[in-house]
Amino acid sequence: MSETFPQLVPLAWDSEHFHFPVARIEGNANSPESLSRLLTAARTSGVRLVYWNGPSEANLPDELLGRFSGALVDRKVTLTRPIGSGELPPSASHAIRSWPKGSASDSLVRLAIASGERSRFRVDPLFPTAIFESMYEQWIQRSARGEIADAVLVAVEPNDQQPLGLITVAVKEGVGHIGLLAVDGKARGCGLGTALLAASHAFMAARGCTGASVVTQGDNEPALRLYGRAGYHRCTLTNVYHFWPMNN
Ligand SMILES: CC(C)(COP(=O)(O)OP(=O)(O)OC[C@H]1O[C@@H](n2cnc3c(N)ncnc32)[C@H](O)[C@@H]1OP(=O)(O)O)[C@@H](O)C(=O)NCCC(=O)NCCS
Repeated sequence: MSETFPQLVPLAWDSEHFHFPVARIEGNANSPESLSRLLTAARTSGVRLVYWNGPSEANLPDELLGRFSGALVDRKVTLTRPIGSGELPPSASHAIRSWPKGSASDSLVRLAIASGERSRFRVDPLFPTAIFESMYEQWIQRSARGEIADAVLVAVEPNDQQPLGLITVAVKEGVGHIGLLAVDGKARGCGLGTALLAASHAFMAARGCTGASVVTQGDNEPALRLYGRAGYHRCTLTNVYHFWPMNN
């Protein structure tokens, strides 16, 4: 496949974890004609799911989307914010704890799955829900073991250690990258998201970070308002498409 169509790149991790062949279209395949050629090649090669990241103004014709079961599944936004040495910890009314290194509890796994409720793997109706949930479960388990995150911070109710919210942070080259962030549905709108974010900034400052970065969905209004209030600015915007070429 990759010999004849180098722009159609097989994705080993995704294919192994989803149990079906997945590929990404790379390079400057921006015209509907070149996308159509590559999607036809994907269909011939038995690729079930193809990702294409286009510019924010990309607007693919309905005919192309219909022919390859394609849809715009995410308007991916990257937001950044400077981190100073004087980042304030959250107010004392919210108890934020560091999750001890080890395994994630069932309630932490439920929060991790909630953090992906607007993700492209959840909103794409053709993507299997069980695989979406298992991806987010693995994400929090690997974060809790310290493999892909440096901190897992949780908001807990006073007198109760059950987590009501979580945020994960990975520090790389002076930047704190936020991975998962969620607050339990029944506890939203009470300031827990704000408190978790403030605690993550304090953690980043203590680790010597000078910046914070997060990726979210362009239509995730609650998350965008939260990050906006905390001083984040939009840095990139990408339209993400999923195609299921074998479905037609
Ligand atoms: C995004 C999310 C984490 C926000 O969590 P939250 O706890 O509801 O956030 P907050 O309570 O701090 O802020 C939400 C609102 O409550 C208000 N609020 C109410 N009481 C508050 C208090 N005591 N302190 C601060 N804000 C308060 C805020 O002003 C804010 O209002 P606004 O959104 O109209 O501007 C939550 O909606 C969520 O889990 N969403 C699903 C997962 C998700 O999309 N995660 C983002 C992935 S990148």
